Amino acid sequence: MRMKKPIGIFDSGFGGLTVLREIEKTIPQYDFIYLGDNARAPYGNRSFEIIHKYSLEAVKWFFNMDCRLIIIACNTASAKALRTIQQNDLPFLAPDRRVLGIIRPITESVGTFSKSRHIGILGTVGTVSSNSYIIEIKKAFSDLTITQESCPLWVPLVETNEYVSEGADYFIKRHIDSILNQDPQIDTLILGCTHYPLLIDKIKRFCPPGVTLVSQGPIVAKSLESYLNRHPEIEKDCSKNSLREFYTSETAENFDRLARIFYNTETKSAHVDL
Ligand code: DGL
Repeated sequence: MRMKKPIGIFDSGFGGLTVLREIEKTIPQYDFIYLGDNARAPYGNRSFEIIHKYSLEAVKWFFNMDCRLIIIACNTASAKALRTIQQNDLPFLAPDRRVLGIIRPITESVGTFSKSRHIGILGTVGTVSSNSYIIEIKKAFSDLTITQESCPLWVPLVETNEYVSEGADYFIKRHIDSILNQDPQIDTLILGCTHYPLLIDKIKRFCPPGVTLVSQGPIVAKSLESYLNRHPEIEKDCSKNSLREFYTSETAENFDRLARIFYNTETKSAHVDL
């Protein structure tokens, strides 16, 4: 059956699959279409202009696929491109459609996890340098002390499946030590990149026992469910046949070979030119 009006899930590469995996557990009845811009990933170290350009190309592609609602399941694109897309592009392109990011759901709930009121954000260079997490968290929880750490090699280690190697431990320990040395009172670390849930066991190993690690997937899933409940005018246009489709700007073979690590299920993707 061909999908009619799926919800679009976008990431620079595979990371958004960790979010889709959790969304599906919460609202499996909806149709989802996933796009990974693997040919141009990682986005983490790219400029604002380029991330906006690539993300907007993806959003337009989703519109052509008839998506009424798109989730940018990439922190880097949410941090650097989402606001411009929502405020400048959408009103001209498609005022009746919605593009949401994945930073806001985390920043609205993070204060409930921390007892010490000291938290840390782990993310890509792009996410950290945008200060998006700090700006958003301060709106909801002004009492929190926030420290950020960019981990530029973590995404490439995951995308190349090298994260299981012993060599990866060095880079994981280095950034965990660095953020906890900057603020030893941190009791909550946000995994502010959709690739990082794959590193969670290794990250845990280098954290003291009292530190809580917050993954985005389950929080984004709950937030999307609540959004759909609050917006029946959008919800009614999202088709519900539990269908999934996967697209990549890389070759389908390359996507399907690695996607399993992130999604736990075989994918049968198709190549698209963006
Ligand atoms: N997974 C994306 C994120 O959440 C970024 C990965 C990349 O650098 O492309 O930030």
